[in-house]
This record gives sequence, structure tokens and C-alpha cells, in this order.
Amino acid sequence: MSVISRIFGSKKEKLDLSLIEVDMHSHLIPGIDDGSKNMDETIALLAKFQSMGYRKVVTTPHIMSDYYPNTRDIILSGLHDVREMAAKLNLSIEIEAAAEYYFDETLPSKIKEKELLTFGGNHVLVEFAFQGSPTYEDELFFDMLSADYQPVLAHFERYGAFMGNVDKAAEYRDKGVLIQMNLNSLTGHYGPHIKKQAEQLIDKGLVDFVGTDCHRIQHLRLLEDNLHLPYFSKLTSHNLRNTHL
Ligand SMILES: [Fe+2]
Repeated sequence: MSVISRIFGSKKEKLDLSLIEVDMHSHLIPGIDDGSKNMDETIALLAKFQSMGYRKVVTTPHIMSDYYPNTRDIILSGLHDVREMAAKLNLSIEIEAAAEYYFDETLPSKIKEKELLTFGGNHVLVEFAFQGSPTYEDELFFDMLSADYQPVLAHFERYGAFMGNVDKAAEYRDKGVLIQMNLNSLTGHYGPHIKKQAEQLIDKGLVDFVGTDCHRIQHLRLLEDNLHLPYFSKLTSHNLRNTHL
């Protein structure tokens, strides 16, 4: 290292992902949503998570009645097969499963019947449509909290309705909802507006969980290649709840 780079610190600080410890948003169960297509791909993704420093992944297949009508049984049996193969191949990373519940007309009855897949005790990952304004979401969150579920809103920064308005995340948090941000939003992967929105969430201290939302290996490579960006380092001082999972 040259004297100049030592003085001015040109060596870029990279976020060490082992500090995040646990990823809580991904699509790794083979063949049941738009994530991993087969067991080989799943194993390659798990090996990559492990090599990047994660000690655990909680994978969250889509449950979306129109496109991915997955059930508890489908997800848990997929998890069983993935764990079996990972053990056979001596992967040490822990693997759990929950789901990413799309807010559609089938969700309220699942809440009532207490059949949601959770992580970290009672946490439930929920997503809205990316376009349009969510309606009745306050009722949804109220119903979840009343049923002792802890709602976690997936990738807040990606919703068109909230663009330029992270105060909405603060409002949700005041009502007891936790906020998840996608790490790749900080890379610009989803576009400049979403990147800005993610940065604002961090600046205002509104991020409870971060996730890769990994669907394929490119998502992890992109993340790995961008960990020098300054907003990743800011995350380490951010009291993320990932480490408690
Ligand atoms: Fe997702």
C-alpha cells in the first residue's frame, strides 16, 4: 500500500456479511416458485451463502394464490429434502424455512386459522403488490398482531406507492410492523429510485431486517461485488435484528 493510500484510506471498507449472520429472505426451495429451479442450484446457492459468511438462511418461498399456491406442507417437505442433501454434502450452514406471503384475499383466513409459517418465533414476512397503493393493510397488520404474529414488511423500498416517502415505514413501525430491506437495493439492481429509497431508510434508522431476496446465484455475486459501497458499512451500526434469529 502506498503512503498516499494509507493516509487517505483508499482501501475500501467492505461489509463483512458474517456480521449479519442470518439471511431471512430468499427463494431456495427447488421448483416451487421463481427462485431455485432444482436441487443442484439450491446446493450451489447454499454453498455460496456459507462462503460469504452467513451461519444460517431462513428461506421464504412465495405463497401467492394466483401464481405460487404453495402450502405449509409443500414448503416443509421441500425443506426436509434440502436439509437432507445439504447434510449429505457436509454443508454446515443452518437452513430453515418460512414464507413470503403475498397480501391477497387468501391471507386473512390463514391468519385466522393460525397456519402461517414463521421465523424467529412469530415473525411473518409479508409483501404487497409493487404497483398501486395497498388497501386495507392496516387491518391486515392489526389482524396479524392480534393473532400474536409479528409482521415484517418485505423490501419496503421497492413499492411504487411509497417512493420518495420513507415516513410511511416509520408509520408502519409505530403500528408494530418491522421493516425489511433488500441488500441488493443498495447496489442499484432494482433501479436508482429504489437505491435512493433504501439509502433513506438507512439514514433514518428504519431498517429492522436485511435480506438478499436471493432467487439465483447472480444475486449473491452482485452483492459480493458491491460490499465496498459506503451504505453497506453503515448497516453495521444499525442494530439489525438478523443476528437474533
Ligand atoms: Fe422475495
